[in-house]
Amino acid sequence: MSRAPLLKVDNLSKDFVTSGRWFSKIIKTAFHPVSFTLERGQTLAIMGDSGSGKSTLAKVLAGVLPPTQGSIYIDGEKIEPDDDKKRCQLLRMIFQDPNTALNPRSHIGQILDLPLSLNTQLNPVERRELVIETLNMVGLLAEHYHFYPQMISTGQKQRVALARALILSPNIIIADEAISNLDISVRSQIINLLLSLQERLGLSYVIVANDLSVVRHISDQVILLHDGHIAEAGPTHKVLTNPQSEQGLRLLQNYNNEYRWHTKKN
Ligand SMILES: Nc1ncnc2c1ncn2[C@@H]1O[C@H](COP(=O)(O)OP(=O)(O)OP(=O)(O)O)[C@@H](O)[C@H]1O
Ligand SMILES: [Mg+2]
Repeated sequence: MSRAPLLKVDNLSKDFVTSGRWFSKIIKTAFHPVSFTLERGQTLAIMGDSGSGKSTLAKVLAGVLPPTQGSIYIDGEKIEPDDDKKRCQLLRMIFQDPNTALNPRSHIGQILDLPLSLNTQLNPVERRELVIETLNMVGLLAEHYHFYPQMISTGQKQRVALARALILSPNIIIADEAISNLDISVRSQIINLLLSLQERLGLSYVIVANDLSVVRHISDQVILLHDGHIAEAGPTHKVLTNPQSEQGLRLLQNYNNEYRWHTKKN
């Protein structure tokens, strides 16, 4: 019997409606209907120019924004836009900037406890144990429980954001440019952490990333957006070595130029 894909996106689209002059409405389509699937333990990278709709697609997948049309299925089951409880058990999002994503007035223990107290029946002792276990899972220590976000480094903050995403044991983690802002050594630590958690927990990732070396290293599939449409989609090695679209070719060319420039410089 064939199993349903872990994530199935069917004709999903998002329009933003804003008010124009004289009570007129301006409709901006952030992305036109897209359909794709993602299997267990796999990573999908969403790439594309600025304004092509990447963040909006990530937010609609994560339920931060409702879709204009279309459906999302997880394990064959349709997730309704307002079913936040089910969605956050299955799918969690990590935002771009760890420096603003964590509440500076809460210590890390409180930050990680919140999703548990909102979504589980665990008692305070069980919640504390799970928080410490999750801190250890992302390479932080039990002591960090009492630290405030401003007391730790950007890389450690991104680990806390990852711990917050992991704490309800989701199947899918969505990350919007969560890696590209980190400096190179921290970036490779976080990438290795993501890969080892994927192997251990069978997680699937949807990552918004424009760094070709990161995308090559961690993704199995790529969707390249252009002006809200899918310009190209397929296995990473295929899209990144033999792109068929104008946008795909440009991406590869920019990367090769940058690579040449870096190797010349070093
Ligand atoms: N809240 C909003 N209201 C109106 N239009 C919006 C809103 N958010 C995004 N848009 C528009 O939707 C389009 C897609 O934006 P989005 O942020 O998804 O792009 P992106 O690919 O993530 O870009 P970047 O690489 O710069 O982050 C853009 O034209 C943007 O101006
Ligand atoms: Mg964006």
